[in-house]
Amino acid sequence: MKALWLLLLALPAFPQSLDTGKRIFESQCALCHGPDGSGGRGPSLRKAKLKKAPDDDALKKAIADGLPPEMPGAWQLHPREVDATAAYVRSLGKLVVEEIPGIPAAGEEIFNKTGCANCHIVNGNGNARGPELSAIGARRNAKHLRESILTPNSFLPEDFLLIELTDAAGKTVKGVKANEDLFSIQLVLPNGRHASFDKATLKNLKRLTGQSTMPAFPSIPAADLDNLVAYLASLKGAE
Ligand code: HEC
Ligand code: HEC
Repeated sequence: MKALWLLLLALPAFPQSLDTGKRIFESQCALCHGPDGSGGRGPSLRKAKLKKAPDDDALKKAIADGLPPEMPGAWQLHPREVDATAAYVRSLGKLVVEEIPGIPAAGEEIFNKTGCANCHIVNGNGNARGPELSAIGARRNAKHLRESILTPNSFLPEDFLLIELTDAAGKTVKGVKANEDLFSIQLVLPNGRHASFDKATLKNLKRLTGQSTMPAFPSIPAADLDNLVAYLASLKGAE
């Protein structure tokens, strides 16, 4: 009987096993980081170094509290489950990294030639009609980047919501939501300008969830696409 007690007391200290971590990962993280950790909507975690989780404490904090605005905190996990998940994430880091065909420098040229900078800022250059891409390679994996270019509607970042509204004068405009409170809404219009609207005077306000202002680029040659993706994947932000 005593032995059993000891066993029961000792048990909670050990579910740090990779199995527990793997199970939690598959149920709560795989949706964004892929079942094998190679990424998707979230970045690949199969790297020796994680920028936002340089040490184990930072990693556990990222898991428990999340990384706003896109990664939710796993507040429902017990600290021991957080430990197990962190250990599993570290084990993924020992696996091989994602191979990306394509040449970043060639992709940068295509980026500038194709007009991507009309809507995206990279390292201070470009316009902010779409999300800044200076660190996109640290946030998304290659497959996601590829899909973002071929079918922009397939995924919309949390902070990009397209709005269509009709103002008091009857004019209909579309834009990306910059800000909103009870009384007013601010949009970034297709020309890059910001505009504020008094909500009480609007004739119509539609939230176009699932729609993107980004044009699709389905006819981009495969080699150019590889280069573009390699370029975007190389953008990791300031060290
Ligand atoms: C809804 C999608 C989503 C879920 C669910 C999610 N993540 Fe994330 N995760 C992200 C995104 C997006 C980022 C990039 C955040 C950033 O850089 O701002 C990220 C970043 C991270 C990072 C930092 C990576 C780096 O290179 O610094 C770690 C570690 C991480 N997630 C682990 C986890 C774990 C473990 C879970 C499950 C408990 C999880 N995530 C669940 C979307 C998600
Ligand atoms: C007319 C403006 C516009 C142009 C041109 C444009 N984009 Fe976008 N892009 C957007 C907007 C708005 C979003 C956010 C909504 C979405 O994901 O579709 C976006 C999203 C993205 C994303 C996903 C960002 C994320 O956080 O996951 C990538 C990658 C991207 N664009 C790359 C490109 C590349 C490469 C080009 C050039 C081939 C390009 N864009 C041209 C407006 C544009």
